[in-house]
Amino acid sequence: MRIAISEPSFPTGGALVVGVLEERKLSLTAERLDKRTGGALTRAMSTSRFKGKPGEFLDVLAPIGTKADRVVLAGFGKPENFDALAAQALGGRIVAHLSKTGNTAVVVAVDAVKGGKLGLAESAANVAYGARLRSYRFDKYRTKEKEEDKPSLKRLTVLVKGAREARRAYTPLDKIADGVFFTRDLVSEPANVIYPETLARQAKTLAALGVKVEVLNERRLAQLGMGALLGVGQGSAKPPRLVIMRWNGAPRAKDKRPLGFIGKGITFDTGGISIKPAAGMEDMKWDMGGSGVVIGLMKALAERKARVNAVGVIALAENMPSATAQRPGDIVTSMSGQTIEVINTDAEGRLVLADALWYCQKRFKPQVLIDLATLTGAIIISLGHEYAGLFSNNDELAERLYAAGQAVGEPVWRMPLAEVYDKAIKSDAADMKNVGDRAAGSITAALFLQRFIKDVPWAHIDIAGVAWSKKDAPTVPKGGTAFGVRLLERFIAEHYEGK
Ligand code: BES
Ligand code: MN
Ligand code: ZN
Repeated sequence: MRIAISEPSFPTGGALVVGVLEERKLSLTAERLDKRTGGALTRAMSTSRFKGKPGEFLDVLAPIGTKADRVVLAGFGKPENFDALAAQALGGRIVAHLSKTGNTAVVVAVDAVKGGKLGLAESAANVAYGARLRSYRFDKYRTKEKEEDKPSLKRLTVLVKGAREARRAYTPLDKIADGVFFTRDLVSEPANVIYPETLARQAKTLAALGVKVEVLNERRLAQLGMGALLGVGQGSAKPPRLVIMRWNGAPRAKDKRPLGFIGKGITFDTGGISIKPAAGMEDMKWDMGGSGVVIGLMKALAERKARVNAVGVIALAENMPSATAQRPGDIVTSMSGQTIEVINTDAEGRLVLADALWYCQKRFKPQVLIDLATLTGAIIISLGHEYAGLFSNNDELAERLYAAGQAVGEPVWRMPLAEVYDKAIKSDAADMKNVGDRAAGSITAALFLQRFIKDVPWAHIDIAGVAWSKKDAPTVPKGGTAFGVRLLERFIAEHYEGK
């Protein structure tokens, strides 16, 4: 879908969206249009339940006095609640609403909201951003969809006074959306298309944006001693990879230690020899969601030329059962030198992360380290599909991530990373085992990761419950969500780019 921002003018056809605040208070444009149409809008409202609440729409078809074929009243809600997220949700819902009507183009008039939290340019930019985020669709494998079943909407224009300023506010948001879309594409691809080598190839496309991308093959991984990553990958016909992506945008590159972002990249998780049940196993194509987020984040940073140094490291492997697969009870030696007894081959994410975390710290000495992983089913039991689980050894970092998540609508909830749980992963045969008992499964997984963290502020975000969604949300259509891209982009912009 194409998005534009222009100066206000009454359209000469098509659909026009105008705002109504709660209690049926018309926006400036709505009021003018109501006059032109001889009160058609007020009358339409009074014969319906439409109140102007967020998510409410009322369509007035072909009213006399305007050339617009369809005037859509859109609920803006209470002025004091109209913030960036509300504006984005509005933009997203407009796209969803107009996708069903057969309209190919829509113009959305955005007026100042008195008593709202946003300036006019900001409001317009966020409506446009929400619209773009919602317009995402992964339909490349649908060859037989009928034209009338496809979303009709091709173009959305936000009309606002001071369009130049609004466009300036929208530009960086558009680039974040590019990162989000890239992540959603990667997560949506099936595992016969995206496996370690092809996912690495996708990461390589970031080189065109000035990201330095290195791909380590299994020979190199062996030289580096990454026994934990190699062990997970050894049962598959698709060899594992480690990809390093570097964006150097800090004004003084030399004295800026990078921010480190690590992603779990299991391109398919059968569970290995500790095989998963058949029902729902197809979902495990998105077990590379963490690495997808890191790739999309690097894209967003590079596209908007973020003034920061960031390194993304993603550990890619396919977890398969086969004659060459690792067995329960195998002991592997990680790059850190620590040995791990693999009790359950389905607890593979922490194994690949152990080597990626260690590698990143050793080579890049990051000033802060954050990993993302679809790590445990247990986090879904704890937090469902709304919040991601946050674990951190540093209160300030945890608070910053919490705040960033709230601001962008990708909320995280901090879980305890307490030593008392650590005894669950003591092993009789090696330095540790890769699973505890069933209790506190997400916490023992995080504590396992912590054994590979040196002296650096670190956070682990368990996105197992939020990487994929089975229902539409205002700015996130069902499917791959890219949860984490917007959160981390905001975290970086807020704290590491100066002003
Ligand atoms: N990829 C899964 C976690 C997962 C489960 C993500 C469901 C999304 C939805 C992970 O590799 C896994 O299998 N974890 C096990 C750990 C257990 C063996 C200790 C789990 O959560 O069951
Ligand atoms: Mn698993
Ligand atoms: Zn997994």
